Formats: sequence, structure tokens, C-alpha cells
Amino acid sequence: MYVCVCFGITDKAIQRAAAEGVRDVAELTMRTGLGSNCGSCRDMATAILNDAHAPALLPLPILQAA
Ligand code: FES
Repeated sequence: MYVCVCFGITDKAIQRAAAEGVRDVAELTMRTGLGSNCGSCRDMATAILNDAHAPALLPLPILQAA
């Protein structure tokens, strides 16, 4: 899905950038231009970056026993 329509940046491209080490929207903006025109994509891009860097949830042993 397109996150930044001004620059044609997709969620997959943001996830790829996160895997390459991009930590925040400012760095993403420097690399791609995302957010530097209308700015309406910045919140969604931040959420995608945060999700990409969030640690995987560990399964709770108590739920596995249920
Ligand atoms: S949608 Fe990203 S700068 Fe406009």
C-alpha cells in the first residue's frame, strides 16, 4: 500500500528501509523524501517503522498450557 503518495513510497519500502537500519522518519525523509511535501504520511510511516523495530512478542507459557 502507498503510504506517501507524494513520493510513491510503500509500506514494503519502509519495512525494507527499517531492515536496513532506518530508525526514524527523519532518516527516511533524507533517504526517500517521504514526508517532505504535504507531510500527511509521517504518522503512518512512524507507526510502520515502530512496528518493524518492535521486538517479537514472546509466547506466554501459561497460554500454551491452557
Ligand atoms: S504523502 Fe508523503 S509527503 Fe505527501
